[in-house]
Amino acid sequence: LCAALRPKLLAGRHVVLTAGPTFEPLDPVRGLTNRSSGKMGFALARAAADAGASVDLVAGPVALPTPWGVRRHDIETASEMRAAVLSLVPHADVFIGVAAVCDWRAAEIATDKIKKSVDAAPPRLALAENPDILAEVAARPDAPYCVGFAAESSDLLKLAAAKRVRKGVPLLVGNLGQQTFGRDDNEVVLFDADGPRALPRTGKAVLAHALIAEIARRLPRRPP
Ligand code: CTP
Ligand code: CA
Repeated sequence: LCAALRPKLLAGRHVVLTAGPTFEPLDPVRGLTNRSSGKMGFALARAAADAGASVDLVAGPVALPTPWGVRRHDIETASEMRAAVLSLVPHADVFIGVAAVCDWRAAEIATDKIKKSVDAAPPRLALAENPDILAEVAARPDAPYCVGFAAESSDLLKLAAAKRVRKGVPLLVGNLGQQTFGRDDNEVVLFDADGPRALPRTGKAVLAHALIAEIARRLPRRPP
């Protein structure tokens, strides 16, 4: 009962999140994507809503139900994700980039299915770099409190600390990608201006609530 009467950690706050992979088409039937399941981002959206926030979740193609009370915006490409995020962040207190945004897209999308041919070599893919959504949001003069996620395959402590500074975000959640993609549990290290701090391995739902508490206590107080 006491917990129910306590003011919620994110009451009155607006949280925007990205989750899942993006899908970058090569032609009408094929594309580039990655192994993100969306579970961590969806768990965080749910935990933010449980904490009393108004929540917008910009989601790549994933097979997950929308958490109760969360507004979901389905997108496929990084460019669509960027447009949805930029329309939502001017009203946000917090932006959490959990999505595994494809770093590259096809420089040109073929209008017809690319056909194989017995005597031609396999097609060469020309790629273009996608916009960095998190860095762009963090650089805005009216930036909300920005949180990034980083999946590294090795050397997490060094790479994630450098990534936090490069992206210009106050908090970055680091993990070793192969230990989290598609799994129901996760082990993360928090990187902020004070350095790294590891959280114990736990289920993504419990971890999501812990991360929301970490974010809530770092938020600047709102003017009365
Ligand atoms: N991110 C983003 N837009 C991109 C790429 C990444 O918003 N085009 C966000 C992710 O949602 C995540 C953070 O940036 O919160 C870190 O993503 P990551 O892929 O680890 O970083 P990159 O800068 O792309 O570096 P690399 O993949 O080379 O390690
Ligand atoms: Ca990347």
